[in-house]
Amino acid sequence: MTDSGGARAVGTELNRALWDERARIHGTTEGDRFYDEASFVAGRRTLNPLEIGLVGDVEGRDLLHLQCHFGMDTLDWARHGARVTGVDFSPVAIARARRLAERTGLAAEFVEADTQALPASLDGRFDVAVATIGVLCWIGDLAAWMDGAARALRPGGRLVIVDLHPACQMVASLDPLVIDWPYGGGEPHKEVSEGTYADPSVRTERREVVAYPYSLGEIVTAVLGAGLTLTHLGEHDAAEFDPRGFLVKGDDGRHRLPLGDSHLPVLYSLTAAKPG
Ligand SMILES: C[S@@+](CC[C@H](N)C(=O)[O-])C[C@H]1O[C@@H](n2cnc3c(N)ncnc32)[C@H](O)[C@@H]1O
Repeated sequence: MTDSGGARAVGTELNRALWDERARIHGTTEGDRFYDEASFVAGRRTLNPLEIGLVGDVEGRDLLHLQCHFGMDTLDWARHGARVTGVDFSPVAIARARRLAERTGLAAEFVEADTQALPASLDGRFDVAVATIGVLCWIGDLAAWMDGAARALRPGGRLVIVDLHPACQMVASLDPLVIDWPYGGGEPHKEVSEGTYADPSVRTERREVVAYPYSLGEIVTAVLGAGLTLTHLGEHDAAEFDPRGFLVKGDDGRHRLPLGDSHLPVLYSLTAAKPG
């Protein structure tokens, strides 16, 4: 199920204001856990083994990074040898991404666009489209998102998604255990956002945003609805990093979401291919 057009447009504008603000802040504060720009320019790598393994060898390949934020991962794919294009709807993020490309000396194209309405100029250009960590929860029209990703691929091209697992998205805090999201349904979920996951010490304006919970079944059905062939679906109970800020770090340095004597999955991964 998806949000109606008018309400969705309002949600997109609220969300863009949030991401413009985050694109201004990220990588600029001392306590930033993810986006230190100086070390990135000096050569720090950002992609994790799960993403690298699923995407595979990108040397000389055309790679589209959907919802690229200010381009760190996009540029890290360029360091792996890909010809990269990043897309994001935040003009602030795109401007910063272009500056970051200049600072690193890496070639990249950055396009300001809503991933629910990718421009036709991207159609059929890419061997792989990648979207990772905190992407589909911002998307009111999942069918349009999948359609754009499928259009952008060449025949035989692959879509790779690594994102927060819907079960992990449901949890607001572990101690006490608070569940504040439905498992799926795709209905707009208004919430108030304050601060940023990248640096808990940063104070920002309280903003209303609109997010969308999707179950794994809904995501897979949208992939198939776009004419793609599902080639992999994985559920991962540990992550190299803590995308929620309250996961429990084990002796192996990986982050988990304990529930009773077991764990809930933290991430899912999905690959799909465009028929050749
Ligand atoms: C959590 S960030 C993704 C982080 C990313 N994996 C990275 O490399 O840093 C989510 C991104 O989605 C973008 N975004 C949200 N809704 C969007 C939309 N409808 N169209 C395009 N970009 C969108 C935001 O601007 C933000 O940069």
